[in-house]
Amino acid sequence: MSDKKSRFWTPSKSKWLLGIPIGGFVFAILGAAAMVAFHVTMEASSTNAFCYSCHVGMDTIVEEYEASPHFSNRHGVKADCADCHISKEFVPKMETKIKAIADIYYQLIGTINMENFEQERLRLAQHVWDEMKANDSRECRSCHEPTRWDLAAAPTRIRVNHQKVLNGEGTCIDCHAGIAHKLPQKQ
Ligand code: HEC
Ligand code: HEC
Ligand code: HEC
Ligand code: HEC
Repeated sequence: MSDKKSRFWTPSKSKWLLGIPIGGFVFAILGAAAMVAFHVTMEASSTNAFCYSCHVGMDTIVEEYEASPHFSNRHGVKADCADCHISKEFVPKMETKIKAIADIYYQLIGTINMENFEQERLRLAQHVWDEMKANDSRECRSCHEPTRWDLAAAPTRIRVNHQKVLNGEGTCIDCHAGIAHKLPQKQ
């Protein structure tokens, strides 16, 4: 064994060769640190606190949300901002996060403020509606699962309308705009 050299690792006489395993080790540590940092960033940028840091004082969004049943209700089940606005799936989540980088710029130049919010609001809401229509209200469906609706037990008004969803004739946002925020004023 002693005079048989390992195929994988032979201590070398030249010191620089040691750099290879040391380099590999450092690289692995940096890689792991980068993954942790990425994960922490992704998590931190999905908290209500993060959204509040800009939207409180900029518009009335947070106050309206906190008055809605999605913030507090008799069951104590809550929906955070990110639950409705950021996908749980990786690719659309990354798309939203990358697009949101532009909002840091808009925040800095102050495109939205308490004075002009009502005028700008329709544009912003329309953007959200377009996205939700295009993705069949995907984020709503992460909590509300139509295949588990007990339509037989639902009042007629709900049964008739929700049957349309099951028939593929409508999506949540077609009928349920303005559930967490006030609707934009008619302009
Ligand atoms: C760095 C500041 C900042 C943070 C943090 C922030 N926003 Fe915004 N957000 C803005 C600004 C500024 C606008 C307006 C952009 C414009 O004028 O087009 C905006 C617009 C929006 C819009 C409407 C337009 C669109 O892009 O769909 C939504 C929805 C939104 N933000 C949700 C969120 C959520 C959810 C969070 C937390 C996960 C969040 N924002 C965190 C600054 C921020
Ligand atoms: C994180 C989970 C979650 C998400 C995401 C979510 N909801 Fe809800 N939603 C709830 C809970 C919990 C209630 C029950 C509130 C209560 O008991 O009154 C509720 C209640 C409702 C109600 C009845 C109360 C009301 O405000 O009229 C409607 C309508 C509704 N959701 C539609 C939606 C739509 C549309 C979306 C997507 C834009 C959505 N929800 C996204 C959890 C969620
Ligand atoms: C064609 C219109 C329509 C569509 C599409 C639709 N709904 Fe509704 N939904 C209604 C109506 C109408 C009611 C009753 C509201 C009322 O009476 O104020 C209702 C009630 C609800 C309620 C409250 C139920 C209760 O027992 O009080 C929830 C939650 C809800 N919808 C979620 C959703 C979700 C999630 C989607 C998409 C998967 C969706 N709806 C799609 C029309 C619709
Ligand atoms: C239950 C789902 C839900 C939750 C929770 C929610 N939103 Fe929204 N948000 C919507 C929908 C749907 C719209 C599209 C306009 C509408 O119908 O009210 C919207 C629109 C917006 C807009 C565009 C401006 C406007 O007035 O329409 C902003 C900004 C926004 N949301 C930010 C937030 C922030 C920040 C939070 C947390 C404080 C949050 N939202 C929580 C569903 C939600």
